[in-house]
Amino acid sequence: MSSKVYVAMSADLIHTGHMNILEEARKYGDVMIGLLTDRAIASYKRLPYMTFEQRRKVVENLKGVDVVVPQDTLDYVPNLEKYRPDFVVHGDDWKTGVQKEVRQRVIDTLAKWGGKLIEPIYTPGISSTELNIWLREMGTTPGIRLNMLRRLLESKDTIRVMEAHSGLTGLIVETVKVKKGGMNHEFDAMWISSLTDSTAKGKPDIGCVDLTSRLNTISDILEVTTKPIIFDGDSGGLSEHFVYMVRTLEREGVSAVIIEDKVGLKKNSLFGTEVEQSQDTIEAFSEKIRAGKKAQITQNFMIFARIESLILQQGMDDAIRRASAYISAGADGIMIHSKEKTPDEIFEFCRRYNEFDVKVPLVVVPSTYSSVTESELAAAGVRVVIYANHLLRSAYPAMVKAARLILENERAHEADDLCMPIKEILTLIPEHKS
Ligand code: SPV
Ligand code: MG
Repeated sequence: MSSKVYVAMSADLIHTGHMNILEEARKYGDVMIGLLTDRAIASYKRLPYMTFEQRRKVVENLKGVDVVVPQDTLDYVPNLEKYRPDFVVHGDDWKTGVQKEVRQRVIDTLAKWGGKLIEPIYTPGISSTELNIWLREMGTTPGIRLNMLRRLLESKDTIRVMEAHSGLTGLIVETVKVKKGGMNHEFDAMWISSLTDSTAKGKPDIGCVDLTSRLNTISDILEVTTKPIIFDGDSGGLSEHFVYMVRTLEREGVSAVIIEDKVGLKKNSLFGTEVEQSQDTIEAFSEKIRAGKKAQITQNFMIFARIESLILQQGMDDAIRRASAYISAGADGIMIHSKEKTPDEIFEFCRRYNEFDVKVPLVVVPSTYSSVTESELAAAGVRVVIYANHLLRSAYPAMVKAARLILENERAHEADDLCMPIKEILTLIPEHKS
């Protein structure tokens, strides 16, 4: 019986480095590929472009691959214990850096049955990371982008979303990363907030920026980013109009729209009961959800229902009743909003929501109760956390300060320290390499 050789890979962008590993692996026996699932990949970096099934098809057809099995964690151990290979083959690039510990666990596990780790020299001059940068420059397609949110919900426990209201803020959400414990932390998706989109255009958040104008914002963002988009659709307007909004957003590659259960002149929720705001009836709003779901063309576009009962002081029972009705009407997600300073009422809602037999992903917007952490929300069952206005709210005071300093001093020097260096702004947006 020939030996069993295990090779783990993501296989989103296959290149000569992979071929060199496979060539080497074949020399030792029958090759089993542990193909990282979306969940395994999302645990430490961005989702791959291709779905698991697409990647499986590619890998199954590579020369010398005998069998492909899913690897559901970055850690090899569960699969090694299950298949007990004689050899594991991996490039020698993981001896240092993030993967060092994963490597050690592979060695220790293999030792239990006398298995061996083979480490061919890492192929220089080509890497998936570099190819990924090129691919990102090339962009994405509406279809791939649209599906990305559903794939994220299937592969991550909680999704982190940041608002964007321009090409530049879109780029920030796309590219800003923080390394924590060897893992990259970044935003998963973008929120096209009615508040920041209107404010950036110098208009109040009362629905006076029309859909065409908001689509222009989306278009600027689509041009320079690849991450999925959730659109703040206010109330969605009349059902008869909402169906057109759904189709237009879908065509652009937007993944989801969130509509709120309010009627009449739109006012921002964070005013609460300070201004007149009326809630829609459960029946009428459910009908709007049904109309939207019927109108969509793709399988994967999502309509999330936003409940304003806590904002409008209608009580927890009303919020829960509505959540249940909106799910029955076909909502793909529920957003529960609050303008309290603490997350108590959100946690109370989560507790009761978790008792539902049929649940859809729960979305929250912790603008006023901002001390709550993502892990606390995740533990309560929240699946999507939206930071709804933070790029604009942080930029505005800085801009006003610079303007004031120049007026006060009748020159720009005093504002220099507030500003990024000229050299940096010139190269902030690099030209496309052709
Ligand atoms: C937005 O960002 O426009 C929202 C969230 O709808 S809130 O401003 O809190 O109502
Ligand atoms: Mg809004």
